[in-house]
Amino acid sequence: MQGKSLFSHTFSTHEAQQLHRMLDIKSNPYQNYHLFLEEIQTLISTDQIPIFFTDICRHIKDLDLNESPAIILRNCPIDDSLPVFDHKEPVQSKYGLKKTFIAEAFLNLYSELVGSYPVGYKTINNGDLFHDIYPKADLLNSQSQKSTVTLGFHNDLPNNKVRPDWVNILCLRNSNLNRVSTTMIRNKDIIDVLDQETLDILKEPIFFTPHEVVSVDGGRNEEGIEIKPIYQETDPVPLCYFETRT
Ligand SMILES: [Fe+2]
Repeated sequence: MQGKSLFSHTFSTHEAQQLHRMLDIKSNPYQNYHLFLEEIQTLISTDQIPIFFTDICRHIKDLDLNESPAIILRNCPIDDSLPVFDHKEPVQSKYGLKKTFIAEAFLNLYSELVGSYPVGYKTINNGDLFHDIYPKADLLNSQSQKSTVTLGFHNDLPNNKVRPDWVNILCLRNSNLNRVSTTMIRNKDIIDVLDQETLDILKEPIFFTPHEVVSVDGGRNEEGIEIKPIYQETDPVPLCYFETRT
């Protein structure tokens, strides 16, 4: 992706501390999301958000999603204590071990200010609105958020009626011993390099993608797998594809 398409900002130490202090939310988003959200919304309605952050979010809100689908914010506020979760049941373990929610609050405040909102699915981590990308023993080799293998290029949730516009990933641990990178490409850059014959084939309703692995793990059955095109020219999200699974 060309550099000019990427909006980025690095929070100064002072800015990160300001956000961190403000985001010390008391409600637990995994137990009572409505109370948690109310606390975030109160921060906004009582003008407690520092101007530098509202300015950044206003700028991001005005970006064209298809032109500028990637944004990088560095030195974001995260929790001081990051407990290590259980290898077999990381999600259940998180419910018991995580006592502060700075990271979740930062993600939610950001989404409120850029005009989006978190969505949850009842078969994905019990409907949680925030998800840890965390290994789970029986899914280590799967194409999912709980694996330790390289994931193919994909758009998320191919068969869901409500699909996310944005995926906001907040880095909590960053070890040089286990370097992980997230690669991305704009839809328009893929389409631009494909010839007409290929695009015509991709427009045919002959493709399917199995449900998200983590969703099947959470009890979703085979129903609702759609046979559809990979490329739908007029759709705001024109591609629906998961490398190795579609
Ligand atoms: Fe994904």
